[in-house]
Amino acid sequence: MPNALRILVALQPLWALTHGFAAEQKPLSQPRFTASISCQSSSCHGGGIGNDQYCIWEKKDPHSRANAVLSTARSARMAEALGIPDPQKSARCTVCHSPMRALPPERFVKGAAPEKGVSCESCHGPAEPWILFHTRKDITHAQRVAAGLRELTDLYSRANTCVACHLNIDGALVSQGNHPEMFFELDGQMLAQPPHYTDQGAWVGPRAWLAGQGVALREISWKLVSEPNREDLVHRWKALVWLLSKTGSLPESIQRSADYKTTQIAADQLAKTAAKSFWSQKRASELLKSYSALGTEFSQSELSPAELVRKSEVLVMAIDRLWVGLKKETGAASGEIDEAIVALTNLAKAQAAFNPAEFGQSLNKLRDSLASLSPSKPGKS
Ligand code: HEC
Ligand code: HEC
Ligand code: HEC
Repeated sequence: MPNALRILVALQPLWALTHGFAAEQKPLSQPRFTASISCQSSSCHGGGIGNDQYCIWEKKDPHSRANAVLSTARSARMAEALGIPDPQKSARCTVCHSPMRALPPERFVKGAAPEKGVSCESCHGPAEPWILFHTRKDITHAQRVAAGLRELTDLYSRANTCVACHLNIDGALVSQGNHPEMFFELDGQMLAQPPHYTDQGAWVGPRAWLAGQGVALREISWKLVSEPNREDLVHRWKALVWLLSKTGSLPESIQRSADYKTTQIAADQLAKTAAKSFWSQKRASELLKSYSALGTEFSQSELSPAELVRKSEVLVMAIDRLWVGLKKETGAASGEIDEAIVALTNLAKAQAAFNPAEFGQSLNKLRDSLASLSPSKPGKS
């Protein structure tokens, strides 16, 4: 399936049928979109605090501007390089930036026009089957989901929704069109989206990070099954396999096999398990410490800097999310560790100028700072 079609499929409840990987909700026959005009009244989601999801989205969320971005000078340059006459009308861009535009008229309820940008129903699913009763107090979350509201509470389903637009992009868009390169890391991106909801429970961050990286590996593996010679993706694949095998939840043997099909299945399983996994201070700090002890895998590596920079990117994201999780859940604090992570982040961003030896030394510094981190506080694990 081409990428564009796959995204549209992934963004509809039917994806459970066509995608092969389970979203455990009942598929419906072609539910229609109502467009967010039906969400914005002040008695619904356009009101005061707690009912202001529409206002937050419209004023602050980059998704509401995703279509407008296609008419900027930058998009015009991109389109020119790619031979696209009008990015606002080309499915090569709108599939992610304004996904409703690619849909036929019969997918909309009477009187509704395709929404521009990435709107409520792009994430929550077409609203026709649930719009009328989803606000009733006697209706449970499970009943809404059964009616077609997309399950987003579960971090695995949420990751599947976000990754559809946030990772795999046609290689030419980046290499010729200079489209920003995409990295998928669910925890950080959830926090970067201006919040119109709050997640309940402890350790959501590390759980989302791990589920998200599992989903990312699954998607890259899927792509490589059909395009095994995409060197850019092979490096990313290796980096994620390396990172995740250190969590103990991905078989080490996969690192050597380059068997993309097997990895696709294993990574999906990892993501599902991770979305519900148990985290504690012990688990987060042990993993963080083991990641910080990998300095020599950079400073003494025979791998090319192009390969190592991919490892550094996923490693820095992991370290950052684990440390943020520890700070939040246990009250841990250390300016020294904060600084060491900022330094590592900057080194990983160097791209073509990436210096593995310097990165390795910087990692050693973090390892030493973590060693002096105060021991577990009782009752906080
Ligand atoms: C696979 C989905 C996808 C496709 C296809 C896609 N984009 Fe994007 N685009 C994104 C995402 C996601 C971002 C945000 C990336 C980030 O910052 O992490 C983005 C960012 C951008 C930005 C930068 C926006 C900013 O606020 O800085 C521009 C410009 C852009 N895209 C234009 C285009 C154009 C033009 C096309 C078609 C030639 C296109 N995109 C196709 C997903 C996509
Ligand atoms: C980029 C994806 C995305 C977009 C766009 C989006 N949402 Fe959400 N929304 C989410 C996620 C993820 C959650 C968390 C779901 C959960 O915990 O069950 C959520 C939660 C909610 C909730 C529950 C709030 C709560 O306190 O539990 C409401 C209501 C909601 N969204 C309404 C909207 C409306 C209205 C729009 C459009 C104006 C919108 N959303 C656009 C992803 C999105
Ligand atoms: C239909 C495609 C689509 C889906 C689904 C989607 N996004 Fe996006 N997202 C985009 C596009 C396109 C942009 C770029 C918009 C711009 O720059 O104006 C973007 C931008 C963002 C940004 C700002 C840029 C960045 O990377 O920091 C964040 C954060 C983000 N998305 C998070 C999420 C999360 C979290 C989810 C899932 C709950 C999600 N998105 C689902 C298409 C999508």
